[in-house]
Amino acid sequence: MSNSIINISIEEINQQKIYAQQVKAIEKVHSSYHVVTYGCQMNEHDSQKISGMLEHMGFTMAEDRTKADIVIFNTCCIRENANRRALGNIIWLKETKKKRPHMLIGVCGCMMEQKGMAEKILKQYPFIDFALGTGNLYKLPEILYNVIAGDIRCIRVSENQSTLVEGLPLVRPTREKAYISIMQGCNNFCSYCIVPYVRGRERSRKSADILKEAEALLKDGVKEIMLLGQNVNSYGKGTGDMTFPELLRALDIIGVPRIRFMTSHPKDLSPELIEEYAKSKGLCGHLHLPVQSGSDRVLELMNRGYDRESYKHKVMELRKAVPDIGITSDIIVAFPTETDEDFEQTLQLVKEIRYDSAFTFVYSPRAGTKAYNMKGKIPKEIATERIERLIAIQENITKEVLKEQLGKTCNVLVEGVSRRDETMLTGKNERNISVNFTANNKNLVGEIVKVKITDFGSNTLRGIGV
Ligand code: SAH
Ligand code: SF4
Ligand code: F3S
Repeated sequence: MSNSIINISIEEINQQKIYAQQVKAIEKVHSSYHVVTYGCQMNEHDSQKISGMLEHMGFTMAEDRTKADIVIFNTCCIRENANRRALGNIIWLKETKKKRPHMLIGVCGCMMEQKGMAEKILKQYPFIDFALGTGNLYKLPEILYNVIAGDIRCIRVSENQSTLVEGLPLVRPTREKAYISIMQGCNNFCSYCIVPYVRGRERSRKSADILKEAEALLKDGVKEIMLLGQNVNSYGKGTGDMTFPELLRALDIIGVPRIRFMTSHPKDLSPELIEEYAKSKGLCGHLHLPVQSGSDRVLELMNRGYDRESYKHKVMELRKAVPDIGITSDIIVAFPTETDEDFEQTLQLVKEIRYDSAFTFVYSPRAGTKAYNMKGKIPKEIATERIERLIAIQENITKEVLKEQLGKTCNVLVEGVSRRDETMLTGKNERNISVNFTANNKNLVGEIVKVKITDFGSNTLRGIGV
């Protein structure tokens, strides 16, 4: 695998467009597709591009994967159970394919970039027709052409993960919200994490391309743009085009009503970004700032590049600038050698920071990462006990945070009718908390409305439109 970043040229994209036209011209058997997505927002966004390319080739989306002619699994390998889940579901489809032999099954995403994985699963599961890596996603038309016209099974992985591709079509599932990928890959090499190995090196898109995309989305009625990147604070490094806070400023100036981003690394959370939070009209008062552990010793072993004090200090500065900001986190328990004392420090930090909510994970060893060979694995029973304690504490804090919202008025971007109660509308407030509320006017989907909070559940708020 090469380490260099490759900008995919317009010629290469045009080449794929020709393959797409050829697929459209020869295709007689397959007409529908279904994409199954695992993992993070990057994968969701990639799946939107997969759908976009498939629709461009003339296929239409099928709701039910067992009735689709082409099924693509967009996989995640962040933890072992993510691999297991994806594989289990792929294998499950084998029986359907026996009854519908024309069905094409493809696998793409991060799992396919694990060393030797694509070759292994194609060898082991003859009913899988093709595999595509994260850096080669744009070659879907070519691969489908080979599979359909040549009747051959295909693999396109690991030539280079660090590609940057502009101009792929995409299908957006919601009218009011959209993702924009601003940078891809990661150079941080946290010792537990497989992402740098499967998503390639950090690379940023040109700010002009991002702003053009944002303007088109605004014209299309989009109210909220979520900027995506493994470490958005690194945006622009290397290319020297704009820094991340400068990009946020530019998006605010063009009038994006709501701006969010995922994910920001604590070590790179700059004073300029904090300043932008205070200044920006569009930037939502929410920050996902994964701490991973509250123990300095463990943070060091994780290669996170900050300690608990500097993390707390940054959170304090943020709250000074935006008192109502909601902070959320990711936390890993049972990292190799984690002692009871280390874990207590994580609990203590969680209590001090008081996150709105947190994603909690038991450490999962990933082959190829630095932590994989670390001694001091924590027994499963201890890991389970720790995560349960952590979850219980965070749940209590979440409840308290929700209670604190009673009587406050917040802005909610309306997504639709509440699934639980048809008389209510639902959406997210700036802090990214779900709010269900009553309103006289039901035609508010896609609008940002004021809601007064009157009640709360275990992780949602309830209120009345004002
Ligand atoms: N780029 C993001 C995170 C991407 S992965 C960031 O740096 O914040 C999402 C989360 O999965 C991580 O924050 C971490 O908490 C968790 N995670 C990653 N690798 C893991 C592993 N090997 N075992 C358990 N959890 C892991
Ligand atoms: Fe993984 Fe760390 Fe990169 Fe996030 S910053 S993707 S946790 S290596
Ligand atoms: Fe999973 Fe890949 Fe995202 S490993 S978490 S889908 S970047």
